Amino acid sequence: MNVYKFISDNIKSKIQEIDEIKDVLTTDVANNIAVEVPKIRDFGDYSTNVAMMLVKLLKKSPRDIAEMILPKLAELDFVENVSVAGPGFINLKLKDAFLLNPEKYGAHKNDNVTPLMVDIDYGSYNIGKALHIGHLRTTVVGDTFNRIARFLGHKTKSYNHMGDWGLPMGLIIAWILENGMPKTADDINAMYPASAARSKQDKDWLERAQKCTVDLQSGNPEYLKIYNQFAPLSLAQISDILVRLNILPFDENKGERLAADYVPCVQKILDEKNLIVHDDGADIIPVKTDEDTAPMPPVMWRSSIGAQTYAAADLAAIYYRTTTDNPTDIVYFTDNRQNLHFTQIFRAAKLAGMDSANLQHIGFGTITGADGKPFKTRDGSVPSLDDMVDMVAESVRKRAAESGKELPNETIEMIALAALKFNDLMHDVKSDYMFDPDAVTQFEGRTGPYILYTAVRLNSVVKKAETLGVGAMENNSALDAEERNLLLRLMDFGRVLENAFARRATDLLANYTYDLAQDINTFYHHCPILRDDVPDTVKQGRLHIVNMARETLLNAIDLMGLRVPDAM
Ligand code: ARG
Repeated sequence: MNVYKFISDNIKSKIQEIDEIKDVLTTDVANNIAVEVPKIRDFGDYSTNVAMMLVKLLKKSPRDIAEMILPKLAELDFVENVSVAGPGFINLKLKDAFLLNPEKYGAHKNDNVTPLMVDIDYGSYNIGKALHIGHLRTTVVGDTFNRIARFLGHKTKSYNHMGDWGLPMGLIIAWILENGMPKTADDINAMYPASAARSKQDKDWLERAQKCTVDLQSGNPEYLKIYNQFAPLSLAQISDILVRLNILPFDENKGERLAADYVPCVQKILDEKNLIVHDDGADIIPVKTDEDTAPMPPVMWRSSIGAQTYAAADLAAIYYRTTTDNPTDIVYFTDNRQNLHFTQIFRAAKLAGMDSANLQHIGFGTITGADGKPFKTRDGSVPSLDDMVDMVAESVRKRAAESGKELPNETIEMIALAALKFNDLMHDVKSDYMFDPDAVTQFEGRTGPYILYTAVRLNSVVKKAETLGVGAMENNSALDAEERNLLLRLMDFGRVLENAFARRATDLLANYTYDLAQDINTFYHHCPILRDDVPDTVKQGRLHIVNMARETLLNAIDLMGLRVPDAM
């Protein structure tokens, strides 16, 4: 329920009931009318610049315009009072009854969003490589974005576009042919870098691996047999860590290998449109335009040794997705080192007329250590995602021990997960951020544990109320400032989610949740709920507010893929 939109729509339609305004108001000006939630709410809960916006059209002072508008806005049934401040800002104070129950005033009537069909490409792991720190953001942000989209009523399909058909497979097969089959996923994860390192020194080795790749892609039965033995080991390891991270299962684990089926369809289109240029044995698609000032290399459609390329798999995947799902949008979450790749393939897709969906790449920044360089473990290696959860869990355990608490492992795991994921989500996806396993586990401040702690607190209030037999009920005496602030925050949830979805900015949700947790705790400290000396009606009224806050907080926590322990 986007209450903000309900209020601003009502303000806009109310002022159009004034003839003098209706006659001159252009859509342009109407669109620019801002309705804001002021930081300091002494003068009102919402304020609007509408009077200023109308100065030119009405040729009157903003104050006079505001005076003309005030009585109209006072007619809105959810408004307690309206006033003018400064040069002509209009402030609105909302009725307590509205804050307690916006639906009763029709605020849910604007809820019918047009459902979009969004294909989301995230995770997109690789066979032969353990999930590592570089996969954290695509996994966590992609999963939360997916959950937000669904919560808002959109349809989504999540794609794990597996890296399972390129040169790394040839490198692993060449290695296996010489050294024997791997027994575990970790064996394979060691093979790939060893073989890759050798291919850098040894040209014959590289050529052998390339040959293995092409042969695998063209169906060599021996290589397929080997592939079918090691790939599942890797996949099982990937799926274990996704379970540990509480990531929704992917709708499709369709990667480079399955994309191969659609390469011929794209080939046909490219040929028909004459988009391919033969270049030194390779097939390329030029995508540079006259406007380009930066280098814009062509798309490598087919390599000179005849291998299916990374770009070809992506174009084939776009073909599959657009023809199968008919999506309005395809959104990709990867790190920003792939910016150029996506610019290239989006251009090629456009040239090929395969751009019926809006194609969008969100490129992440890097997770760094205190030195500003990519984060490494103490021994200088790149941490796996398992390592990262372990590191954070260790810090949680230490903290609990310091405060004399003994927490069950399951609780520690939940807190660690919240610490790690919340910290990732609260940063703007495009920028780098510094990761400090000890800082993220603090129980105070902008952290996952603080959010969980707030939820645990509300859960225990509700439980206690049950044992005391206190029921929740709307109380119609005047609300305290802390109650009002909390309720105003709750009203903003719908707008925050819509913005987070539209801007692909999951940090908006994370930071909103932190603000909400703060408002909840301020309310909790100032407004005793079940204390003996609190009159019954007040108890019931506050419990009603607790229920509302709890519902929103738990929804937010769930959208971030966190789990709440019973106690902490
Ligand atoms: N597997 C790739 C990597 O680890 C990421 C794939 C991203 N998605 C895509 N459709 N290209 O670098």
